[in-house]
Formats: sequence, C-alpha cells, structure tokens
Amino acid sequence: MSGQIVAEPVTSLAGTATHNELREPVGRAVVWTAAITALGGLLFGYDTGVISGALLFLHTSFGTVSSFDKELVTSLLLVGAAAGAFGSGRLADLIGRRSVILITAAVFVLGVVGAALSPTFCVLVVMRFVIGLAVGSASMAVPLYISEVAPPRVRGALVSFNQLALTSGILVSFLVDYALSSSADWRLMFGLATIPGVLLFIGMLTQAESPVWLVTHGRIADARKVLERVRSADHDIDGEIDEIRAVSNRSTSYRELLAPDVRKLVAIGVTLAVFQQVTGINTVIYYAPTLLHQAGLGNSASLLANVGNGIVNVGMTIVAIWLIDKVGRRVLLISGTVGMAIALFVVAATFAVSGNTLGHTASIIAVVSLVAYTGSFAIGLGPVFWLLISEIYPARIRGKSMSIATMANWGANFVVAVTFLTLLNAISNAGTFLLMGLFSLVAVAYFWRKVPETKGMTLEAIERQVA
Ligand code: BGC
Repeated sequence: MSGQIVAEPVTSLAGTATHNELREPVGRAVVWTAAITALGGLLFGYDTGVISGALLFLHTSFGTVSSFDKELVTSLLLVGAAAGAFGSGRLADLIGRRSVILITAAVFVLGVVGAALSPTFCVLVVMRFVIGLAVGSASMAVPLYISEVAPPRVRGALVSFNQLALTSGILVSFLVDYALSSSADWRLMFGLATIPGVLLFIGMLTQAESPVWLVTHGRIADARKVLERVRSADHDIDGEIDEIRAVSNRSTSYRELLAPDVRKLVAIGVTLAVFQQVTGINTVIYYAPTLLHQAGLGNSASLLANVGNGIVNVGMTIVAIWLIDKVGRRVLLISGTVGMAIALFVVAATFAVSGNTLGHTASIIAVVSLVAYTGSFAIGLGPVFWLLISEIYPARIRGKSMSIATMANWGANFVVAVTFLTLLNAISNAGTFLLMGLFSLVAVAYFWRKVPETKGMTLEAIERQVA
C-alpha cells in the first residue's frame, strides 16, 4: 500500500515529530485516566464470559430452555455489540469520546439490571441485546479515547490496559460462575456487572474530553486545559495543538471512508478484525474445556484448564503491555500469530492421531498447546488489533473508521460462534483446528505485508505518513 509505514521510516518519522514527547516523563494523571477508562474492557470481558455459567441455571426460573434459546441469549449480545459499535462511531465523532463512554456506561447498567431482574425469558433476551449495544460501543470508544489522551511513548501500553481489563473480566466471570454455581444464582452472575458499570460512569465524570476531539471541534482553550493535565510540565502544548490542527478537519460523512487512501486503512482494520476472530480465540476460550471434557479429561481437570487458560491470557497481556512500546506492534503481532499457528497445528495433529477421544499423553499435549495458543494470542493479535485500529486512522474520521473495524470484529465473532459446532461435526476436531491454523498462517503473511509499525509516533505523524 502506498501509505504503508514500515519499520525503517518509523524511526526517522518519530524523530521529526514536532513536539518532543518521546523523552518526557509520563504523568500519573494520564495513567489514571487510562485505568478508569479501561473499566470499559472489564464490562466487555465479564459480559461475554459470564453467560457460559449462567446458561446452566436459566431453567430454574424459566422452565425448559432449549438449545436454540441458549444460542439466542448467548449470541444476541454479539449482534447488539456489532450494532453498538456501528452507532457509537458516528456519535463519538459528533458529540465526543467521553460523552459516548458515559452514555455507554449508563446503557450498560440499565441492561445488566434489566437482565438480572428479567421476569421472563423474552425480557432477558432483549436485555442481552441492550448489554451488547453497550459492550460494542465500549469496545470501540475506550481504545479510541485512551489513544487520543496518551503520550506516544506509552500509548501502546495505555491502550492495552483495555485488553488487560477485558481478559481480567473473562477470568473474573469464570470465577464468579464457579463460586455461584452451588446456589444456581444466575441473576447475581449477571447483576454483579453493575459494579464496574457504575464505577466506569462515575470515573468518566471525573475525566475530560479527548484533546484531539476538542481541537477538531475548535475548542482550543479546553484542549489546552486537558493537555496541561495529562502532559508533563515542560511539554510543548501549543506545538501539540498546532500539530493536531494541521491534520484535522471535520467530516460528517461515511462516504469519506471510501476515498482511496482511507479505504486502504479501513481494509486493514477490517481484515485484522476478521483474522482476530477466525483464528479461533473465542472458541478456544469458551469451548475448549467442553471439548477436552468430551475428549476424556475429567471434570475438575477441564475446569482447571479453563482457569489456567484465563490466567495465562491475563499474564501474557501484561507481558505485551510491557513490551509493546519497546519492540513495537509488528514484532508482537507477527511472532504471536506464528505461535498461534504452531499451537493449532499441534492440537490438530493430536486429534488426527488419537481421534476425538484423547488418551492421557494426548490430553496433556492438547491442553499445553491450547494454553500456548492463548498465550500467543494474548501477546500479539489480542492487544495489537485494538491498539492499531485506534492509531492508524486520521483524526477526522477516527471514530467512524474504528467503528467499522469493531463492527467487523463482532460480526466475525458472531459467525464463528454460530458455525463452530457445525464445523466440528462436519470436518472433525482435527479439521477445525487445522483450518484455524491455516487462517493464522494466512494472517501472518498479511500482517507481514500490510500492517504498519506505529511505535513511538504521534498520532499526527502517523496520519501524515498514511494520508
Ligand atoms: C477479542 C475478544 C476475545 C478476547 C480474549 C479480544 O481482543 O476481541 O473477542 O474474547 O480478546 O482475550
């Protein structure tokens, strides 16, 4: 692509950034801002995770719950999330990033309370859709907001707080499901999510609007105030404002996403989104324990594998946060995805040799490979996808472009969720993991050729480079 930023120009471009942020100390205020906003990731992770445990107990309130009902209540969240991601992009460009996150938190709390109190199954299904709207919106708006507030030197780490909160949310949801399973209290499983929802709302009230959005909307004095708070004392604030001004002009139309240069970037975001899902992360996180159980692993061993996998997901995300601004996005993305491919091929080979029922040694190989797969995702494609889509788009259309990529992510998540079990039946466990491994290989080739390096650059320098 013409606007591709490759490893070598990055160094020179970052060096020519008009404000000298790369050596400045990082203030506590901005880390705090990122941490509060990342609560949005917790909602995302908790709510996508909690359903697996809650499903087991819905019949205690609603009588018979068919497989179709279960699929409906699970996957409507994904449909809602795609819709929420789409709607909130335009809104984020129009009314601001912070306002969208505030609305999102309010809608989320409404949905969660509604779900927890659902008098009928129908109400529960509707509430899952409402929660989905908020989860989709948060998944787009949180990385967007953090990337615009963060100094370039640590932007990768701060935006990836969101992925850390997300993976922690999944882990917490597993533990809550486990803890509440003896009381069969599915309402409390859902209801506990009000805590991060309310915290996000209150936290965001204490935060200011994104400085990039303020400049784009001509509110220079307000932008200056925010920058004074989130930048170090000797930072060249006027320089940064001038730089944002130089690349920003407002737009209100989706048509602009079709302009040749922007179109290429939109295609990169959408392709990354689809690869993130078709390489199978959610099937491994949510179905692997069932699969291993069916393959002969005992109950508690399956549960342990599940929690172990969740812990590795969180742990390797922390490693990614530590590395992402040092070694860059491309190294993590490419090496992580190679790791995923290798692990998936080993799982496929294990099933191919042993059939769908694994013996003792084969079970151990499968579990270790699945955990290695999750770790490889967590260090690469997991955080890097959300980070890159918050970095590569011009400010004037950042909200809209991110919402398209985010919508593609939820759409692909939905398609994988509804086809996975059919796929297992049609082409066996070995065939399914082989397919996901092949997708990972194709992804590696694509990332190698197309994905830009953005480490250490200001968003404006990235924009100048790709425009
Ligand atoms: C993905 C989610 C996934 C999660 C797992 C995220 O980056 O977008 O679909 O559930 O990672 O850690």
